[in-house]
Amino acid sequence: MSANKVLPDIYNVGVVDWNVRNFHGHTYTTKRGTSYNAYLILDEKITLVDTVLASFSKELIENIRSIIPPEKIDYIIANHVETDHSGALPEVMKLCPKAKVFGTQKCKEGLYKNYYGNWDFGIVKTSDKLKIGKRELVFLEAPMVHWPDSMFTYCPQEELLMPNDAFGQHFASSKLFDDEVDPCVLMDEAAKYYANILFPLGGIILKKIEEVQRLNLPIKMIAPSHGIIWRKDPAKIINAYLSWAKSVALPKVIVAYETMWGSTEKMAKRIAQGVTDSGVEVKLFDIAQTDRTEIVKEMLDAKGFIFGSSTHDNDMLPAIAGFLYFFKGLKPKGRIASAFGSFGWAGGAVAAVEAIIKEAGVELVQPGLSVKYVPDDEELKRCYEFGKGFAGKVK
Ligand code: FEO
Repeated sequence: MSANKVLPDIYNVGVVDWNVRNFHGHTYTTKRGTSYNAYLILDEKITLVDTVLASFSKELIENIRSIIPPEKIDYIIANHVETDHSGALPEVMKLCPKAKVFGTQKCKEGLYKNYYGNWDFGIVKTSDKLKIGKRELVFLEAPMVHWPDSMFTYCPQEELLMPNDAFGQHFASSKLFDDEVDPCVLMDEAAKYYANILFPLGGIILKKIEEVQRLNLPIKMIAPSHGIIWRKDPAKIINAYLSWAKSVALPKVIVAYETMWGSTEKMAKRIAQGVTDSGVEVKLFDIAQTDRTEIVKEMLDAKGFIFGSSTHDNDMLPAIAGFLYFFKGLKPKGRIASAFGSFGWAGGAVAAVEAIIKEAGVELVQPGLSVKYVPDDEELKRCYEFGKGFAGKVK
């Protein structure tokens, strides 16, 4: 990608990473790739907002050079330490060593511990302003949205918010704007991003959005550091974040399981049928066959989770153990759950699943259901009633 014009004298000089399929150390699958957006503002002070992953430093610098010599950069805004946005900073600083970097105190500390650069650094706080010519930049600290150093940068003259990770999506595209891409794909990727990265931070995100709303900043455009820029309807993604942060959930049930010889799967399908026949939407996943990132996205608006596992060594099976370990960290608020599974001689999986549900802070609303070996007709009926009973609690 060469530089793309976002607004007059403002360019996206970032890069599209078409081929990345795993992110954050394999915690997030990125089937549509991603982008690392960085914004170059041409004003009296040439300003670069964020950089890109280190391996794309050369492309970033070429993109900048297609507009101005990088040596002319005066200011660099570092909204976030994480290396997908700061990795190219050392290479950029080699070209403009006198440029001043701006960020939060935590950002300064984090950048130093990553790159050990002796750079001129200006610490900024919420409401601090930086005049760059006819424009100014206003900073808004956003700790834990999603790292302690995170910050938003706002340009009042353009009514442009650059919130770094917030409102982003892992969505590689040759297009820049929301009105140029499939809106369903865009919202799907935005929801997936929120669910997999921001789910446990809902309370903090809600307060931050309310703070921004109290400031009454007109926002015509939101330019995140991943994916597509929101210009058609920025309120759409803000409202979606408000809903997700408030943990608004639908009468929808996720049945997710891992099975050894098929008995737990038989149970899962009868349970799901019970939920369906109660008029409640259900989504069923074999954890061992399904991408975890996609399941977590489906959990974002689901009120109930029913997790199942066959017993192995008095415990749950390893794929669902990995899934539930991730689930525990999401700490979904206001949700309900239950557990089920088959066993041969000594059980253990259902109790293990229930224990991790409790650790996640999710309410167990009915006793777990265990079946020895293969479920018979009577036991399948119990599975069906189990699903119906659970559905009654999510309505
Ligand atoms: Fe896209 Fe927190 O980095």
